[in-house]
Amino acid sequence: MSSDSTSVDSTSVDDAPADASPRELLLHRIEQRSVCVAVLGLGHVGLPITAAMVDAGFRVLGVDVDAARVAALNAGATPLRHLGEDLARRLRDTGRFEATTDTARLAEADAALVCVPTPLDAERQPDLGAVRATAGDLARHLRPGGLVVLSSTTWPGTTRSVLVPMLEAAGRRCGTDVFVAFSPERADPGRHDDAVTIPRLVGGVDEASGEIACALYRAAVREVVPVASADVAEAAKLLENCYRAVNIAMVNELKLAFEALGVDVWDVLDAASTKPFGFQRFEPGPGLGGHCIPVDPFYLAWAAERAGASARLVRLAGEINQEMPERIVERVGAALAEDDRTLEGASVLVLGVAYKPDIDDVRGSPSFALIHLLEQAGAKVDYHDPHVPRLTGREHEGVAVRASVELDDARLAACDAVLVATAHAAVDHARVARIARLIVDTRGVLRGGSGPEHGSPERGRPDGLGPGRIVSA
Ligand SMILES: NC(=O)c1ccc[n+]([C@@H]2O[C@H](COP(=O)([O-])OP(=O)(O)OC[C@H]3O[C@@H](n4cnc5c(N)ncnc54)[C@H](O)[C@@H]3O)[C@@H](O)[C@H]2O)c1
Repeated sequence: MSSDSTSVDSTSVDDAPADASPRELLLHRIEQRSVCVAVLGLGHVGLPITAAMVDAGFRVLGVDVDAARVAALNAGATPLRHLGEDLARRLRDTGRFEATTDTARLAEADAALVCVPTPLDAERQPDLGAVRATAGDLARHLRPGGLVVLSSTTWPGTTRSVLVPMLEAAGRRCGTDVFVAFSPERADPGRHDDAVTIPRLVGGVDEASGEIACALYRAAVREVVPVASADVAEAAKLLENCYRAVNIAMVNELKLAFEALGVDVWDVLDAASTKPFGFQRFEPGPGLGGHCIPVDPFYLAWAAERAGASARLVRLAGEINQEMPERIVERVGAALAEDDRTLEGASVLVLGVAYKPDIDDVRGSPSFALIHLLEQAGAKVDYHDPHVPRLTGREHEGVAVRASVELDDARLAACDAVLVATAHAAVDHARVARIARLIVDTRGVLRGGSGPEHGSPERGRPDGLGPGRIVSA
């Protein structure tokens, strides 16, 4: 850990009554913008809320274990491109933001927003390692009478039964010496609404904690929705993501069922989407990606089952979605077999490695499972992604370093199959369809899939196709 010499001083403009309680003092200082807010974890969730807090007039101390990220931010370089190249420079130029790896500097903070990862471990069980590490740091260093808000997605009860005991072990009492709440991040990369514009759920572990956390967020975001408890806020976040996971699993499974019945799922979706109520369109794909939807159902299922309840549907949805890359690779194999080819020795071009259209985020992308499975079957695999110029080899076990190849006519004509995995608007799929011999389309880009989630550039089969086959998968 580095030790930074400067400190963010937030005490100088205090004029609170001398006999104010910790609750009154913190509310007063939030009102005055004289609290120092620490944001722990400066990633996809931490950086936007950092910006919102800085813009609201607070001083923010960003704390992260990643020294390179901290150095980049302090130098004015934004580590996540989709947040805007100038974000870090803008933060630095306000004079109200500084990043550090030195957790002892949490002693400067009156409020801490915890935005660290909550992945699954090898057994697909919740891994709260980073949350526990930050709770330990805060227990040691946060100022007395401070606020801690957990924003990492987790199972209902985590804030109350994991965070609070760790903070209280240091001799504080929740609701008096420390205030604790949960407030989920609901942003979705690639969408235009963000941490400021999306209504923010806030639930405290007690009344005072909820009140103070709401006051802090009200200063920085457009709408705060107080909820009954931290547990409700945690559960609401999981419900939102399980809703998506279950509906996507259903349409993925129905796609396979419709296929067996000789019905095209995209035609069915177009038909069902004309119903003005009671139906929301979800589209099939090669599997789920990102940090949330592939992970969160397992957090909920784990917690429910531990409490003696069943979470069969949610767990099954997670499993169906995880199996999709295998189904897709089988489909590529079957399509090649129609030309008396096998995956062994075939050259396959995967179009898109970001997990969503028009972004550069590759975390958990199903494209990696596709590449891995294709290569395991003996195929030679290249990829093209206008937003992801190279893979470092660290993204997915078994997927080696490589660069995005050009999408030139010669390559398209030469490869045995093109597998459309992500429907980036910048890719001319109609051109691909004119040149390639075989296209396996998992996104409906060549069949009229046009849902907002997939940003498909075409509707309907484009004119002037070459002799190649398009297989919907
Ligand atoms: N990415 C999203 O769109 C999204 C949306 C809603 C909720 N979430 C949830 O928010 C949480 C954070 O996700 P993210 O996408 O921002 O992750 P991220 O990987 O983008 O960022 C996490 C940051 O935390 C840092 N970190 C790890 N351990 C730390 C520690 N002990 N102390 C300080 N910093 C530490 C990492 O170095 C990294 O910079 C997760 O629980 C995730 O499920 C993410």
